[in-house]
Amino acid sequence: LQRSHSQHQSQSARPSFGIAFDIDGVILRGHDPIGGSPQALRRLYNDDGTLKIPYLFLTNGGGVPESARAVELSGLLGVKILAQQILQGHSPFRRLVQRFENDLIVAAGKGEPAQVMSEYGFKKVLSIDEYASYFDDIDPLSSYKAWKVEQAYRIDEDSKKSQPRYDVHSEIVKGVFVVSDPVDWGRDIQVLCDILGFGGLPVKGRGHQQPPLFFASDDLEYQAKFPSERLGMGAFRIALESVFNRTHDDPLEYTSFGKPNPFVFENAEATLKQFLLNIHHNQLTTNEAQAHSFSKIYMIGDNPSVDIKGAREAGHPWFSVLTKTGVFKGGEDNHPDHPADLVVDTVEEAVDYILRREC
Ligand code: G3P
Ligand code: MG
Repeated sequence: LQRSHSQHQSQSARPSFGIAFDIDGVILRGHDPIGGSPQALRRLYNDDGTLKIPYLFLTNGGGVPESARAVELSGLLGVKILAQQILQGHSPFRRLVQRFENDLIVAAGKGEPAQVMSEYGFKKVLSIDEYASYFDDIDPLSSYKAWKVEQAYRIDEDSKKSQPRYDVHSEIVKGVFVVSDPVDWGRDIQVLCDILGFGGLPVKGRGHQQPPLFFASDDLEYQAKFPSERLGMGAFRIALESVFNRTHDDPLEYTSFGKPNPFVFENAEATLKQFLLNIHHNQLTTNEAQAHSFSKIYMIGDNPSVDIKGAREAGHPWFSVLTKTGVFKGGEDNHPDHPADLVVDTVEEAVDYILRREC
């Protein structure tokens, strides 16, 4: 009786809701917190700093491992954020490790794309910068570029050339992962066309099947620091696809991850359940956590066709909240094609609403 009483108590103390925060345009613009995000997050913790409400960040952005992103966000927002609370566009790439176990893969995008993939367990990863560095004159415009790509890889002291860690001149690239927004679109489109069209060997005309291509997300635009939206990974995908399809016989094949795909929301729900274990570590088993059912999970986002569309399509228990601090700027009361369950000015107002309603 005693036990079932305490079980009942812990059950009733367990919040039946969770929150998923979009980052760009909701929590941050560039590196600046917006919409009262630090104050809003602080309200999800007890006075002693322990977490009260299960929440995570569900972003289509990325480029650094989840552990590094957690440290960066903790510093910017003033609360202790754990790596398990970070779901980035590329986070599901870790599920593909077995498929590419000993294959050479190329990772593109800003930040540390190769490090991200290596931490997920991929064994033979080259960043597109490193890959390109092994081919003389691969980019005819490089001498006109004001920047130098940092060469952190092995340089032969005599020739001063970078030494391939893998035999890129004979080994075919078996997979390409666009981990984060590409920096040098022109060079990357050229090099990706080489790899996707011919396996990376700079010799045209070999019978070759396109290696699988994965994008971490497909955002046409997103909200960075500049007042109006900026082109995102979806725009890069369109550019690459257009050029590839004009220069090759077979159309480009690819898979895009990220919101609004329903599996991203299913995964976020499972991650939030798992995270309950951190909050109720003494009272809950893993099975009990997975059996827990949230009555609501709030998706707080700024992009109607990504965050709101995704949450709406994911259905129960998702509840969509649209802020006016990002891609949606509040010209209308709600978005005509992807109307949210609730529209607020800022993330702080969203958290205020949720806590008033739930607590
Ligand atoms: O590059 C990041 C962007 O596409 C979206 O990030 O946090 O708004 O999902 P977020
Ligand atoms: Mg956003």
